[in-house]
Amino acid sequence: MQNENRPDPKDTVYVNGVSFSNHDLYIVVEDFYTRIQQDPILHVPFLSVVDWPEHIQKITHFWWIRFGGPAYMFSEYNPVAKHFFAGFNPELLQRWLSLFHATLETHLSQKQASLWKNISTRMGDALTIKNELFKQTYETDSKK
Ligand code: HEM
Repeated sequence: MQNENRPDPKDTVYVNGVSFSNHDLYIVVEDFYTRIQQDPILHVPFLSVVDWPEHIQKITHFWWIRFGGPAYMFSEYNPVAKHFFAGFNPELLQRWLSLFHATLETHLSQKQASLWKNISTRMGDALTIKNELFKQTYETDSKK
């Protein structure tokens, strides 16, 4: 994965007038996946991760481009299939979101945390719908 073009940690993106530095995103993502690895339930689907520092860089970049920053790494994500095969479901999502939101509150201002909470909750809703559609297609195809 190339990351020679990594932004300066102080480089900033603005979402609805709220600023996030690349370092803000990195700090949240790093702590979140540390908490994931310590969680008695959520660490299980994440046993697939072999290189945590790489995963953390990749997910920091994911949020950076989602928030409108310029891409600086290979950025083709395939979250729907990955989540389906990881056993994504509404209960795991609720737990994931609670942990994520607690991490946001630890590191960010109220404005930043509240905005990112809304965005992640909406993304979770979208993932739930896409997961259901993927499941239907996958189950139909595997019966053919
Ligand atoms: C709003 C909620 C979530 C967001 C925004 C999110 C985001 C992402 C993204 C962007 C990736 C990388 C996909 C790729 O490499 O193509 C990923 C991977 C992954 N996510 Fe999530 N995720 C969410 C919830 C969950 C939940 C609830 C689970 C529990 C099953 C989960 C488990 C995983 C796993 C296991 C991977 C693959 C890690 C690997 O590369 O081996 N995620 N997630």
